[in-house]
Amino acid sequence: MDHGCRLCELAMARERTLIAIKPDGVQRGLVAEILGRFERKGFTLVGLKLLTPSRALAEQHYGVHRERPFFGGLVEFITSGPVVAMVWEGEGVIATARVLIGATKPLEAAPGSIRGDLAVDIGRNVVHGSDGPDTARFEIGLWFQPEELSTWTPADQCWRTES
Ligand code: RTP
Ligand code: MG
Repeated sequence: MDHGCRLCELAMARERTLIAIKPDGVQRGLVAEILGRFERKGFTLVGLKLLTPSRALAEQHYGVHRERPFFGGLVEFITSGPVVAMVWEGEGVIATARVLIGATKPLEAAPGSIRGDLAVDIGRNVVHGSDGPDTARFEIGLWFQPEELSTWTPADQCWRTES
């Protein structure tokens, strides 16, 4: 894709991912800490809301894990209280957000990552991030109506990216 085409560059820069601060992150007062890591990194916040997910939303969101033994507990947990759902935008944001979040098992997550710094248990790993482009598209559509997303460019964007 790196052939200097301005349209491709713009398309890449508009990559979006769904990030959700799970009920443990909200209950522990870590919303600003977690949100701030994406903000300070230089990605653009295009959607944000707090909601307690319905069982239907949770089951669809984690549908890929439906047959796993932990599925019931996972749905119970994610529906147990408020979640902060966010959409973040930027070049490479899907993969980079996963790096910022860290490994699924917090004890194996690198220091400096969100889970590496703020969590100890796989069932209380404070944050979710889409794991690929198709998942991101699906999850953003599941959690947000199109009109809940704002397409905008930060006034200081030229101080974040060269083009
Ligand atoms: P997430 O979807 O929440 O961002 O987490 P992830 O991609 O790092 O991990 P994934 O494999 O998608 O698992 C989803 C969530 O299920 C819980 N889990 N529990 N007890 C277990 O063996 C187990 N495995 C996964 C975790 O809370 C994980 O974040
Ligand atoms: Mg996952």
